[in-house]
Amino acid sequence: MRFKNARNYDEFAQAQNWAAKSLVSLIETFRGEFGSVYEIGCGSGLLTKVLLERLEIKHLSLNDLYESQIMNGFHSQIGDICQIEMPKGLDLVVSSSVFQW
Ligand SMILES: C[S@@+](CC[C@H](N)C(=O)[O-])C[C@H]1O[C@@H](n2cnc3c(N)ncnc32)[C@H](O)[C@@H]1O
Repeated sequence: MRFKNARNYDEFAQAQNWAAKSLVSLIETFRGEFGSVYEIGCGSGLLTKVLLERLEIKHLSLNDLYESQIMNGFHSQIGDICQIEMPKGLDLVVSSSVFQW
């Protein structure tokens, strides 16, 4: 799905919303502060927003097959995660509702 123009996704994606919040709650039980975080398949930024709200992150990189608005202002890598080289020295690699695609 190309999220650049998908305006209602965040509102109607209830399962993805639940998954993103549950995932971040689980991460919080281990740690709340991270240096470099890399998110695979950020889409419209549903998980991204929860990560930024609830964790302390120094540097966030976003990846997706397609560009989306949430990528503005963050380091981003567009492309298939199986084909691109992720940055080195990451403290957390995170992804939600992506691998089933
Ligand atoms: C259901 S959306 C989930 C978006 C967001 N993570 C969330 O929690 O709402 C799946 C996203 O994964 C991306 N995606 C699927 N396969 C990918 C791949 N091989 N590399 C990078 N992104 C991928 C899609 O473009 C889409 O934006």
